[in-house]
Amino acid sequence: MKYLIANWKAQITLPEAGRWVESFLNELEKMPQLERSVRNHELEIIICPPFPYLLYVKQALSRFPQIRIGAQSLSHEKEGKFTGEVTAKALMDIVSYAIIGHSERRQHFGETDIMIEKKLHLAEQFGVKPILCIRDTQDSIPLADAIVAYEPVSAIGTGHHEDPRQVVRMKSNLGIDQSTPFLYGGSVDTDSIGDYLSHPEIRGFLVGTASLDPVEFAGMGHKMISSSEE
Ligand code: PGA
Repeated sequence: MKYLIANWKAQITLPEAGRWVESFLNELEKMPQLERSVRNHELEIIICPPFPYLLYVKQALSRFPQIRIGAQSLSHEKEGKFTGEVTAKALMDIVSYAIIGHSERRQHFGETDIMIEKKLHLAEQFGVKPILCIRDTQDSIPLADAIVAYEPVSAIGTGHHEDPRQVVRMKSNLGIDQSTPFLYGGSVDTDSIGDYLSHPEIRGFLVGTASLDPVEFAGMGHKMISSSEE
């Protein structure tokens, strides 16, 4: 299975999210090959909205339940008196996935390796599949059953995507298991995605900026499918 993940970050309003879903589903209807691949679980599309929109987006996508919902983060606390926290336990009935350890959380919100490790274990405990973001080989991968997304900080939101050969080298340097899905993220868009598609080691993409445009995002899925059928 391949993965295409939309990380909307804090860049979209609720009405915009509603319009995004409508337009994305329209695009899928225009691309039967892509629609089939998603329904057959060859391509897992995961949408990660801000927390308050999770249920709304899930409901808006209800006629296409194969499209998954993910959280952009979750609490390192299990439960209790932690005002404002969103726990894995609170998320487990809503999302299938959660992004954990994104470099923006490490940089702006002081997330440490210890917190990230706690989050990974809580996600596992409550049946939320982690999408663990790794900046380089210094970041550890403490859990075997995670999707690993390599996201070099220099490539995030800069328009400078990493050389695909370097991404493939990073996978082998990380020494991750062949069965662990390994994704790339950092300025992937409809133009740059083609550079990666000839490398089967890269099983998919975590997309920020380009995921805000539903037409572009669907087009990226279409390119992924077309390349695997060549
Ligand atoms: P970008 O963001 O696609 O805008 O570079 C990727 C990410 O931060 O996950």
